[in-house]
Amino acid sequence: MRLLIRGGRVVDPARHIDSQMDILTDNGVVAHQGRNLSPEGAQVLDASGLVVAPGLVDMHVHLREPGFEDKETVTTGCAAAARGGVTTLVAMPNTRPATDCPEIVELVREQAEPTGVNVLPAGAVTLGQKGQALTDFAALKAAGAPALTDDGVPIQNLALLREAMFRAKELDLPLLDHCEDRDMVQNYAVNEGAVSAKLGLPGRPAIAEELQIMRDVMLAEDTGAHVHICHISTAKGVEIVRQAKARGVQVTCETCPQYFTLTHEEVLCQGAMARVNPPLRTQADVEGIRAGLIDGTIDAIVTDHAPHTIEEKSRPLSEAPSGMVGLETSLALALTGLYHTGLLPLSRVLSLMSASPAALLGLPKGMLCVGRNADLMIFDPNEEWVIDRDKFVSKGRNTPFHGWAVRGKVKYTISRGNIIYQEG
Ligand code: DOR
Ligand code: ZN
Repeated sequence: MRLLIRGGRVVDPARHIDSQMDILTDNGVVAHQGRNLSPEGAQVLDASGLVVAPGLVDMHVHLREPGFEDKETVTTGCAAAARGGVTTLVAMPNTRPATDCPEIVELVREQAEPTGVNVLPAGAVTLGQKGQALTDFAALKAAGAPALTDDGVPIQNLALLREAMFRAKELDLPLLDHCEDRDMVQNYAVNEGAVSAKLGLPGRPAIAEELQIMRDVMLAEDTGAHVHICHISTAKGVEIVRQAKARGVQVTCETCPQYFTLTHEEVLCQGAMARVNPPLRTQADVEGIRAGLIDGTIDAIVTDHAPHTIEEKSRPLSEAPSGMVGLETSLALALTGLYHTGLLPLSRVLSLMSASPAALLGLPKGMLCVGRNADLMIFDPNEEWVIDRDKFVSKGRNTPFHGWAVRGKVKYTISRGNIIYQEG
């Protein structure tokens, strides 16, 4: 199958390319790029007026299968990814059973195969994510796990975590850490501050996240392991990573659209729909996250796509599960919040969502050079549309952005030369 993508503005951040040209794909890879390429029997896609960029790489997605198929399946999650322009994703291991052995890694990969989305299941750090005994890292890596994480369940045992870092380093695997001290956050629903006080609820303090980031940074420095901080949400957390990077610690971090867009005030009007871990924070934190994106302290924008059922999210704030879906809205929210506001150039937003996470995971993705897999997305950066959760192809409807007017719309998503999503 050959595809000629004609007349688009090609933005390939890793190669500093931003110019109008055609891209010809052949047999799943990028075969040619340049002006006025001849179709030679290829299917032609008219991309004039649109941006052609590397397919997004979302390194933090909860696909829920096996075990929680009422929330999402690999198939529905991948359909949501494709609709959002995502061609590669890292699936989190808090499934049932947890992704703590090669068989589950293989199962998730097999389920994903027909969807066309490149799904890389992260392996759990501890058996059953119980925080007690380490998994077989080498076996998980051999099965295709690109990283290790107990995401959703912060690791508390420091001797075990340090040992995990030594082993991960030996295998050249990054450790992705959900940073929140479990004793401090318990099962609380909101950030500790004005909103929790107004609601009369105990809160999850920012310090619970910052202490664990500090701890992980120091352990990374001590062990030489690559530690990646998941969904960073506080200004001070960003500052800790900034200082660690400045002294050469191998630490990277990610954030999500909700953390550079919303504050904890959202919980007052949206209740459980705005409940997420770590929680939405203050305006000063939102600004700290934006500053970290601008100065390069933050390496990636991910979704932390965390679908839950309507029934679960209809429970009272204190009883509902934490999490928000994000795959179908992340590009638009990033463009609206960071690019259209003038905070970041288009190529930087795209890099944070493709080339940069691919590079930190060591994946040959997020770049459109000849010979690479033809994983790309074509979008209108300016088109305005309204987020409508009832149009999601994800099973999850739990977004705090329902009804929001945003700019930036995915038109086509192409994975290994195949169109896996087309608008309309
Ligand atoms: O809000 C969250 N939901 N944060 C996590 O770390 C886990 C996730 C989930 O699995 O629902
Ligand atoms: Zn998490």
